[in-house]
Amino acid sequence: MQFELNSEQKAYQQMAREFADKEITPYARELDEKEEFPWEILKKLHAVGLHDLAVPEKYGGPGIDSLSYSLIIEQIARGCAGVTVTSSANGNSLALYPLLLGGTEEQKQRFLPPICKEGKLVTFSLTEPNAGSDVSAIATTARKDGNYYIINGSKCFITNASYAEYHTVFANVIDDSGAKKLSVFMIEPGTPGVIVGKKEKKLGLRCSDTAELFFEDVRVPKENLIGEEGEGFKLAMKTLDMARPSVGAISLGIAQAAFEAAVEYSKTRVQFGRPICKNQAIQFMLADMATQIEAARLLVYQASWLKDKFLYEGRPFTREAAFAKVYASDVAMKVTTDAVQILGGFGYTRESLVEKYMRDAKIMQIFEGTNQIQRIVIAGRILS
Ligand code: CAA
Repeated sequence: MQFELNSEQKAYQQMAREFADKEITPYARELDEKEEFPWEILKKLHAVGLHDLAVPEKYGGPGIDSLSYSLIIEQIARGCAGVTVTSSANGNSLALYPLLLGGTEEQKQRFLPPICKEGKLVTFSLTEPNAGSDVSAIATTARKDGNYYIINGSKCFITNASYAEYHTVFANVIDDSGAKKLSVFMIEPGTPGVIVGKKEKKLGLRCSDTAELFFEDVRVPKENLIGEEGEGFKLAMKTLDMARPSVGAISLGIAQAAFEAAVEYSKTRVQFGRPICKNQAIQFMLADMATQIEAARLLVYQASWLKDKFLYEGRPFTREAAFAKVYASDVAMKVTTDAVQILGGFGYTRESLVEKYMRDAKIMQIFEGTNQIQRIVIAGRILS
């Protein structure tokens, strides 16, 4: 076992760090205040090859290993988690995985190159008003009509819904006996009947777009069914396994940014005649923050490495993906809260970015499977 990154991984890490320092961090506050979608940054991420990270080279992606891509996401999230989620919900973790994992070669050749070439956005349209943690409660239907499926239903909390041109949609095909078969479809640009609803106003990740999506008699050719009818639940679960290390990596980036701000402040803030970092109370907080971030980092990097073992050798990593997600997001919440505490009144104002880090950290414990669901997943693996 060795813990050194290879030279390519170090280069990606460095490149993403420099990109975040120059192109993201200086704009993070303004994007958050204005709840402004980060189009310009997204275009630059695409231009330098740091978007759609999961896609192999032969389909137009960068074709990098999963650990490199977590390293990149971590650094970008050090700049702004909202920007990172906007990019990663596309082809780094969520929206393209059903196609990558369950699509035919023909479908991958048809959909991926135009998406990657032009940096098009794709939604992962799974969640519904009555189907959040309980994926099996999805009510959206796909009725067969000759060579088409007609999709009807409503989705909520969909990342990039207002800007995406493609949609990876989960819907139930109802067979003749009335049985529901959860399935996945790719909806292409310009398909009539796709309606964007209310845009959410959120606590954190305020530059990322989250909105409702409605599908009204949307005709989808049968060639756009990803995998088999009835394969939707397993494709959703596998996709979420792939996504959870990325949530861990974003959480790491947020925690690291908050930690760095707290260290810096503690060295310059003078009270009772000396910098506050001279106080053991502050030192113990910083020591705990650093220890927790490092432990989270090891879990995230391990899960990212295992992701490639799953992709290329079929080795299961559901439990380790959940370990990474649950621990890193809990650490991000704890570390950002402690960073606000160390910065005191200043940390509570919008003069510093640490209050934003704390707001951004909260969703990491909620989306892509709440941390309670992660514990159910882990316990299930322990007890089975
Ligand atoms: N990989 C492959 N197959 C899996 C799997 C996995 N990780 N997990 C389960 N399965 C299979 C099981 O083997 C089983 O197959 P068989 O029927 O052939 O035996 C089947 O799926 C059902 O499994 P379970 O009985 O374990 O499923 P369950 O219904 O009891 O519970 C759950 C599953 C863990 C609660 C699951 O529903 C879950 O993870 N829910 C969370 C959903 C979620 O993460 N939502 C987030 C939405 S996306 C989002 O948040 C995006 C965003 O905003 C940016």
